[in-house]
Formats: sequence, structure tokens, C-alpha cells
Amino acid sequence: MESSHLPSLGLDGQVALVTGASRGIGEGLCEALAAAGATVAVTARRLDDAEAVAARIEAAGGAASAHSLDVTDIESIGSAVAEVVASYGRLDVLVANAGLGANLPALEVTEEHWDLMMDVNLKGLFFTAQACAPHMIEQGAGRVIAMSSQASLVGIPDHVAYSSSKGGVNQMVRVLALEWGPLGVTVNGVAPTFIYTPGTAERLDEPTFLASVVERIPVGHVGQIKDVAGAVIYLASEAGAMVNGSILTVDGGWTAQ
Ligand SMILES: NC(=O)c1ccc[n+]([C@@H]2O[C@H](COP(=O)([O-])OP(=O)(O)OC[C@H]3O[C@@H](n4cnc5c(N)ncnc54)[C@H](O)[C@@H]3O)[C@@H](O)[C@H]2O)c1
Repeated sequence: MESSHLPSLGLDGQVALVTGASRGIGEGLCEALAAAGATVAVTARRLDDAEAVAARIEAAGGAASAHSLDVTDIESIGSAVAEVVASYGRLDVLVANAGLGANLPALEVTEEHWDLMMDVNLKGLFFTAQACAPHMIEQGAGRVIAMSSQASLVGIPDHVAYSSSKGGVNQMVRVLALEWGPLGVTVNGVAPTFIYTPGTAERLDEPTFLASVVERIPVGHVGQIKDVAGAVIYLASEAGAMVNGSILTVDGGWTAQ
């Protein structure tokens, strides 16, 4: 039975650009977006890293291309976005995933550390969104999905620069949602808890650290990349069309406390 109330999570015909896609969550999101039907522009600082991910997606039957994009270099953002639009004639989804994290007590934070967190996590994300939005606005439709963190919503010791940058991401999402929503472009954030990736494995494989994290997650375990992918695909799809200016937590309830 066909129902007009059945939401679609498919992304056939959509072109999605993902930043910071060389590994971890970004790489997994590229694979998931491709499996959902999108053509994925895999971007990474090093072109060969993006090419390796795009090749794996194509080998699995998906559609992907590789582009070099450093979010701290506004020229490189512009060239990558121009390349994608020239190749496909459209750009439907931006997943602004590139980000850096580091543990550092506040008293040890240097200007260099602070600037790096802000340059990548906040300024880089903004200028990537600013480069993509005009193409979406011209189409009258688009989705900007910003990678935030539970650390944007609650305090976590030793994360002052990271948390400040991700808190800024949430405010950026809200402002852009107001400016671009009326033009057909929704803007939302995804805020995961600890996600098991090659980058977090070393710490999460340490039983005492894992126990200290899990005791704060009501569902009783850390997240996986597919948990983040579920949120991203929902926000990118027709099913998520009415969601704008939200920060979707994928944290098993950590921030509900
Ligand atoms: N893994 C987690 O537990 C977790 C939890 C919450 C939020 N996040 C967020 O998810 C995103 C991905 O995290 P991850 O765990 O996969 O981390 P990761 O370190 O494995 O991946 C980060 C990616 O960003 C890229 N990157 C760094 N600087 C860049 C730049 N200047 N230009 C372009 N790319 C750049 C890296 O090369 C890498 O591909 C980040 O924004 C992170 O803050 C991760």
C-alpha cells in the first residue's frame, strides 16, 4: 500500500559533499550516504586520502569523486566546491564534518591550540557552508549538516577550546537556519557522544576510561559511526525536510542528565 505519509530516507539523485572524509566518522558517512543513493564528493586535505575512500565506495557499487579541501584554506574550499558543481551541475547536501579534538587542561591552553581549534572547527565550518550555500539557494533546496558534539551542550573537563568551538557551531547552525531556511536550505547540527573510531579506539580500549564514559551514557555503551550516519541521512533526506535549526544529539542520553 502506498502512503503519502511514509517518509523517504533515500538520497537518489542527490549530490553530497563531506569534509574531513579521509578517515573516521567522515569516511563512514561517505559510505553511508553512497549506500543511501547519493553521489558523494569525498573531500580531504590530501587528495590521495580522498581518492582512496572514493575508490572503496565505487568498488562497493556507489558513486563518488575525490577532491582536495582544507577547511582552513578558503581558496581550497572554493576550488573544491566549484569542482563538484562543475562535475555534477548541483550540490544538495553539505556534511561539514572536518574537526579536531584534544584534551588539555584550561591552564595549559596556548594561543596556538585555541586558534587551531577555532580555525578548523568553527571558522573552517562556516566558510565551507558559505561556499556551498549559494549553489543550494540557486537550486531552491539544500541541506547543511554541521558536525557538533555533546561537548557543545555540557561541560567536559579539559575540553575548553573544543567545547567553545562546538558551542559556536550550534549558534552558527541557528543563525544560518534563520537566514537560509526561507531560501530552501535547512541547517542542522549533529551532536554525538564518544563514537568508537580508529581515532578514539586507543582511549576507548582502555577499560577504566571506557567505564568512566559509559557510566554517563544511559543506554550503556558508546556510539558507532552508523549511529551518526543514521542522524545525517535523516537530516539529508526528505524525511528530515521540516527540521531546521536543530542540534540532534546522538549521545545515548548523556546530555539529558
Ligand atoms: N569520534 C568522536 O567521539 C566524536 C564525538 C563527537 C563529535 N565528533 C566530531 O566528528 C567529526 C569527525 O571526528 P572523528 O572522530 O572522525 O575524528 P578524526 O580525527 O578521525 O577525523 C577528523 C577528520 O577531519 C580532518 N581534518 C582535520 N583538519 C582538517 C582541515 N583543516 N581541513 C579538512 N579536514 C581536516 C582529518 O584529516 C580527519 O579526516 C569531528 O568534527 C569531531 O569533532 C567526534
